[in-house]
Amino acid sequence: MQVGVFGLGYVGLVTSACLAERGHHVIGVEVNEARLDALKDGMVPFYEPGLHEMVARQRATDHLTFSASGREAAATADVVIVAVGTHDGNGGWQTETMLACLSEVVPHMADDAVLAVRSTLPPDFIRQLPRLLRSIREQAGREPIAAVVNPEFTREGAAIRDYLEAERVIFGVIDDPKGRGVERMNALYEWSTAPVLTMSAIDAAFAKLGSNLFLATKISFANELAALCDAYGAQVDQVVAGMAFDSRIGGRFLRAGVGFGGSCLPNQVTMTVKSATLAGVPSPLLSAVDEINHRQRTDFVANVREMIGGSLEGKRVALLGLTFKPLTDDLRDAPALDIARHLLAGGATVVAYDPMESARVRSADLVPGLEVVSSALEAVEGVDAIGLVTEWPEFLNLDWSVVRAAVRNPVLVDGRGALIPDQMTALGFDYSAFGRGLRAGALATGETEPIGQTSAERSPTATVIEAYAPLQVE
Ligand code: UGA
Repeated sequence: MQVGVFGLGYVGLVTSACLAERGHHVIGVEVNEARLDALKDGMVPFYEPGLHEMVARQRATDHLTFSASGREAAATADVVIVAVGTHDGNGGWQTETMLACLSEVVPHMADDAVLAVRSTLPPDFIRQLPRLLRSIREQAGREPIAAVVNPEFTREGAAIRDYLEAERVIFGVIDDPKGRGVERMNALYEWSTAPVLTMSAIDAAFAKLGSNLFLATKISFANELAALCDAYGAQVDQVVAGMAFDSRIGGRFLRAGVGFGGSCLPNQVTMTVKSATLAGVPSPLLSAVDEINHRQRTDFVANVREMIGGSLEGKRVALLGLTFKPLTDDLRDAPALDIARHLLAGGATVVAYDPMESARVRSADLVPGLEVVSSALEAVEGVDAIGLVTEWPEFLNLDWSVVRAAVRNPVLVDGRGALIPDQMTALGFDYSAFGRGLRAGALATGETEPIGQTSAERSPTATVIEAYAPLQVE
């Protein structure tokens, strides 16, 4: 099929490359000249494992081309996919880009072409789409077209696999005047073995939103559980392993830590709370999810401070990891940046390292005063505390005995519960992590000594490791 993809950010570019890989002829349209030029020069403007190679492969076969001209791509496409940005950069939605794109593209689409909206949009806007699309077509003197919402469920760092091996494909019908829109979308996804669900557009929009809100809720739940574990001396990994065998619960997205960042989960929680408030719908659960998520960052800093004697003034702290999660160079709402700002505000010198060079360069700009270095060992040299913020494999595979020898004071706060506590303690680190005896958590309950069994007394069984696998990168 001929496919036009509008907007070549994470979602649009992954969609374009994957559809080309599955045999379709894709024209990717991007209005940002710098981004388009970079793509034409063979550069993918962000890091996503396997994407650079896939784009190069498909460009070489001519299955994937890039263009600035929306008209031609719209006029020749069997399916037009719109994947433009919808965040206002301030925790809210913006629909101007989507409106501009639709008014540019929709008038030129063939009468039997299908429009597939892949961007995540506010529910109110989704409800207006049928009328809006019909009026754009009418003003252009054209027949109404078929249109669906086709939400994406891909994670950064695993986007290609998540798209090509999707767990479900959803078509939310906006309008289907001749009843052939869904048929054509099924043909577009003929290669997929995932179950296909067809529903109304508003249901599809909420299926997407609901999925992210639920994942965010799971993480904040794990973080609240971790705080309870710290107060009572339980180990959150053991607790989650004990829960995960229940197939109604499962163990994924229950990793306690500094919380969720990125461009999706935090924004969608805050945007939903904002829109719900405007609509007069109370959302106490989601407000709490948001609050807990931010508390994790504050607690992380408080814990570092407690472990180095109650003051950050004049102390040197190393941060390992800047991106919001491993296998990406994305810094949007990355917990590390907030944590760095708080540590600096407390009077500490903060030295950070991340395996992604581009993330290192941008972090130095985003956080004035942050020292960024080009290796983990350089970062930890002579520090009073190490904070692990992103569980990059490089950090898990560090020779921690060398790290131990390099620091001035062996305080290690594992913000992702990614290291093995017993190993770290055996090396002489004063180790703490959320739900594994977080010091500030214990102090908050009036306890200054660790309560309950120490992690050394609880050697995890092989089954537990297999069930929960805390070292795995999500
Ligand atoms: C998320 C969803 O997982 C995707 O399904 C969705 O398609 C995407 O948003 C989107 O709406 O576009 P993403 O933001 O790429 O994907 O990243 P996640 O893997 O969901 O991780 C989000 C954050 O949660 C990260 O900061 C991660 O470190 C954190 N996290 C994840 C935890 O703190 N604990 C966990 O157990 C899992």
